[in-house]
Amino acid sequence: MLKGKNILIGITGAIAAYKVLELIRLFKKNNANVKVVTTPNALNFVTKTTIESLSQSPLCIEQFDIKEYKPEHINLTDESDIFIIAPISANTISKITYGICDNLLTSTFCAYKKQVIIAPCMNTNMWENPAIQKNIEILKERGIKVIEPEEGFLACGREGKGRLANINTIFEAAKEYLLPEQILKGKKIVITAGGTKENIDAVRYIGNYSSGKMGTAIADYAFKLGAEVVLITTVDTDRKYKVIRVNTAEEMFTEVKEEFKNAYSLIMAAAVSDYRVKNKSEQKIKKDGAPLILELVENPDILKEMSKIKTNNQIVVGFCAESQNLIENAKNKIKNKNCDFICANDISKKDSGFSSNFNELYIIDKELDIFHIEKTEKQKAAKIILERIYGTSK
Ligand SMILES: Cc1cc2nc3c(=O)[nH]c(=O)nc-3n(C[C@H](O)[C@H](O)[C@H](O)COP(=O)(O)O)c2cc1C
Repeated sequence: MLKGKNILIGITGAIAAYKVLELIRLFKKNNANVKVVTTPNALNFVTKTTIESLSQSPLCIEQFDIKEYKPEHINLTDESDIFIIAPISANTISKITYGICDNLLTSTFCAYKKQVIIAPCMNTNMWENPAIQKNIEILKERGIKVIEPEEGFLACGREGKGRLANINTIFEAAKEYLLPEQILKGKKIVITAGGTKENIDAVRYIGNYSSGKMGTAIADYAFKLGAEVVLITTVDTDRKYKVIRVNTAEEMFTEVKEEFKNAYSLIMAAAVSDYRVKNKSEQKIKKDGAPLILELVENPDILKEMSKIKTNNQIVVGFCAESQNLIENAKNKIKNKNCDFICANDISKKDSGFSSNFNELYIIDKELDIFHIEKTEKQKAAKIILERIYGTSK
């Protein structure tokens, strides 16, 4: 099933290291090529001999073992399709979050541009430590797939969260990345993300709390489904597909119009300001004791304008963030804007929607049928949105 796929497995000094020997076997059984890189500490838990026998490949551990003038961590990044670090220790989680490269495994991570999956395992108190939780959050935001530890009896003799996820769960997650169904292959999808910034003067702007996480997660998953992705965003980000960086609604409109011409679909996940400042100042405005009155004028309604010009073969998807009467307002929006789908999220809910890593959404189609996505990570919500929209449309 995985013939020709090159898997790089990273093992660190955590108690469940022995379980990952089974993961190596599983990949080999499925005809994948496996290379293993360990931290020096990992070899307190598993042996070089076992790893090399199961992977049928020399263990990579020496950072300064340079072959043909190419450093080993660069070799490893070039030669593999996915990097799975399991188990990953609290120590290595923290190092990779901050770009520390003090062994072959951490250097490889730093140079790695393809998908990385990490599966932590540690004592419950370590897992719950705010530093570790913060680092996990940062890694997720950067697109690292985290397979969270499970609850259960731990090696330290306690019950709690910290046990390495089931090996099959790790294997299936990797398979999903290695063999995604390319339902968007050959199709151009334009996605907007982030909150627009409307200039007041040379240093100030009117903005909103949108982080761009939802739109970026959709773009990442569309790319994985084979789409030619163009992400038009107000947030700086380095992706493997085309990213166009904008600030204002007008700039976003210009780019969307251009990119949508030959696109299959547009997903407007950005929070576009309804208004901009009429007479913005080129210089910083100085305070002079008098009230500052700003006149606001309406911005172009990008979603409505693009829905007007779209052909029958193009799919336009809007987002709406509401703090009350969510479904009613979303239904009115789809009628008023004439787009194909609206994804509605309730921004009054805590830890969901704007800025959060989670979202709860309702996808509403032209027939006003509603599909509910329960609160989940934005990456998972992105997957469900894309499968729902492009699975049910032409
Ligand atoms: C018996 C034993 C078990 C350990 N188990 C874990 C563990 O499951 N998870 C973890 O994060 N650290 C664990 N540690 C601590 C790590 O081995 C230690 O932090 C080490 O520095 C990790 O190094 P590495 O990240 O470079 O592999 C354990 C230590 C010992 C002695």
